[in-house]
Amino acid sequence: MIKLSPSLLASDFSQLKNEVAKIENAGSDMLHLDVMDGNFVPNISFGMPVISSLRKHSNLIFDVHLMITDPIRYIERFAECGADIITFHYESCNDQMAVIDEIKRCGKKAGIAIKPSTPAFVLEPFIGVADMILVMTVEPGFGGQKLIPDTLSSVNQVYNAVQLKGVSTDIQVDGGITPENAHLAVENGANVLVAGSAVFGAADVAAAIKQFKSL
Ligand code: DX5
Ligand code: ZN
Repeated sequence: MIKLSPSLLASDFSQLKNEVAKIENAGSDMLHLDVMDGNFVPNISFGMPVISSLRKHSNLIFDVHLMITDPIRYIERFAECGADIITFHYESCNDQMAVIDEIKRCGKKAGIAIKPSTPAFVLEPFIGVADMILVMTVEPGFGGQKLIPDTLSSVNQVYNAVQLKGVSTDIQVDGGITPENAHLAVENGANVLVAGSAVFGAADVAAAIKQFKSL
């Protein structure tokens, strides 16, 4: 089953509670929360206070995407503020296994992400260990970019590795995903779709969610 995780980054920040309610009522599975530190990526978004404030108003699965340097420092804080899944970047630290262990110690699901230019084989040791693999389909840092088609082969490589190990790891794609191109990601093995502009920027948010869910 395909799961949809709308990215809050594309919502109206002056209306956060209502924006989340809108996607929750329309049948969204998760809420994707992009945390950027101005160091790992050249942009700054939001952090724990925003996540904990929204937690009180939503039962969605909070899918937190950390684009921060040395994420192990903050895992416990993100766990406490209401994350259900915490995804960090392979490129953001030296000991990825320690970060996964820390996320699990905090009782949360662990995701590991790669940027478009990072080869998928680096993920091999984490398949069957992480709960989710995120293949970025754009350069992380900004919403509203176009999907980089080459990244789809990384999705496929991860899918094959997951099949080979016989594990049930979720495979997420993030960046430039639209109702028109989402089938390409799904055909290559993705089962969790992140979409920012294509959901929150749609004239009819509920209709956009329905379109994704019917894939
Ligand atoms: C980019 C973020 C994405 C982004 C997706 O760094 O990780 O989650 O918000 O936005 P769209 O769907 O507009 O590309
Ligand atoms: Zn993201």
